[in-house]
Amino acid sequence: MPTQFITEGATKLEVPELERFRTRAGDYAPSLTPVFYNPQMEFCRDISVSAVQVLAGELGNIRVCDSLAGVGARGLRYAKEVEGVAKVIANDRSREAFELAKRNVELNGLASLVEVLNEDANVLLWGNRGRFDFVDLDPFGSPAPFVDAACAALSRKGMLAITATDTAPLSGTHVKACLRRYGAKPLKTEYCHELGIRILIGFVQRVAGKHELALAPVLAHATRHYFRVYLRARRGAQRADELLAQQGYVSHCSACGRRRFTQGMAAGLPSSCECGSEFVHAGPLWLGRLMDRAFVHEVAGDLVKRNFKFGQQELVLLSRCAEEAEGPPAFYDLHGVARRAGASPPKIIEFIAKLRERGYFASRTHFSGTGFRTDAPMDEIVKIFKSA
Ligand SMILES: C[S@@+](CC[C@H](N)C(=O)[O-])C[C@H]1O[C@@H](n2cnc3c(N)ncnc32)[C@H](O)[C@@H]1O
Ligand SMILES: [Zn+2]
Repeated sequence: MPTQFITEGATKLEVPELERFRTRAGDYAPSLTPVFYNPQMEFCRDISVSAVQVLAGELGNIRVCDSLAGVGARGLRYAKEVEGVAKVIANDRSREAFELAKRNVELNGLASLVEVLNEDANVLLWGNRGRFDFVDLDPFGSPAPFVDAACAALSRKGMLAITATDTAPLSGTHVKACLRRYGAKPLKTEYCHELGIRILIGFVQRVAGKHELALAPVLAHATRHYFRVYLRARRGAQRADELLAQQGYVSHCSACGRRRFTQGMAAGLPSSCECGSEFVHAGPLWLGRLMDRAFVHEVAGDLVKRNFKFGQQELVLLSRCAEEAEGPPAFYDLHGVARRAGASPPKIIEFIAKLRERGYFASRTHFSGTGFRTDAPMDEIVKIFKSA
């Protein structure tokens, strides 16, 4: 396999020669390379480095498992760029990935810190290598087949980080695939990516419940073609129950845009909206907070000290995440509301200020440049639109 050398953060990496693997349209295609490496995911890996740093700062001497490592980019970066990492396992079942990851360990002088393995991720995580404080699941497509084993391998106060690139099923384009993989019904709405992330989190929490593990999201973002969530573990059946009680359903009216949230799995769902149209439902899914604002601030506080190529955009994302952290589920789209209200959309900043003046929660959202999040009722939203 032809390779080239690149640098991500402070880590050198030997990766497949990117120019050689292109689609007919000329786009670089990581799926065509013998060992997977996607340069577009540097953005996501940068944020992970800072997230792991925050965890390591709190717990000290952490053990990390990069269970689906490819060339080893994540695991190596955690070992090289994070202070307080005691041990990293970088694992991939592909023999070529394993060989390349081993060379990358040598390249960075990390042999004392990083062990490279060539196993099936589920076998590794269920196996006898002890518990990990940070488990990274970064698969092709759906992480669903690995979540059970990842929960089994997570330490008492650990963190599980998950990437999902099967955003089409999770966001309602392939309903049956979502039901099969995640046991939940998605919905194609203006906030379908948020629903997809909430379905993913809900699924992970239900799997974690079997392990008497409570996994609360501390950061979640939808970027480009993927979702990424970070969940913090706490042990105990009661804590797991408390989190599961915050799961439920979103009922959506496509005629007027109203939403209803129903907590609890066994509860009845509303059938018709006050405008007279029928609701459609998504769930079960996580209805609680998507982020912990303090954690997001700490991640941003670490990231700002680093000299990452995409640092500025990463900080913009994190600041949007912090802003919306304490908001209710299901953001609105300015143009969607304008269309339904028969009014032209106001300037988003001025509109948010008006909602806040009236005492409501209001913020922008990282999910969409024209999205806003509020707990104001629909009538109030429409009134402000019309007055603008
Ligand atoms: C999306 S790539 C990982 C990318 C990598 N984390 C990075 O940031 O560059 C997914 C990897 O999982 C590996 N893989 C797929 N199924 C696996 C399994 N059951 N056990 C271990 N590795 C697996 C593939 O060989 C591939 O390298
Ligand atoms: Zn309605």
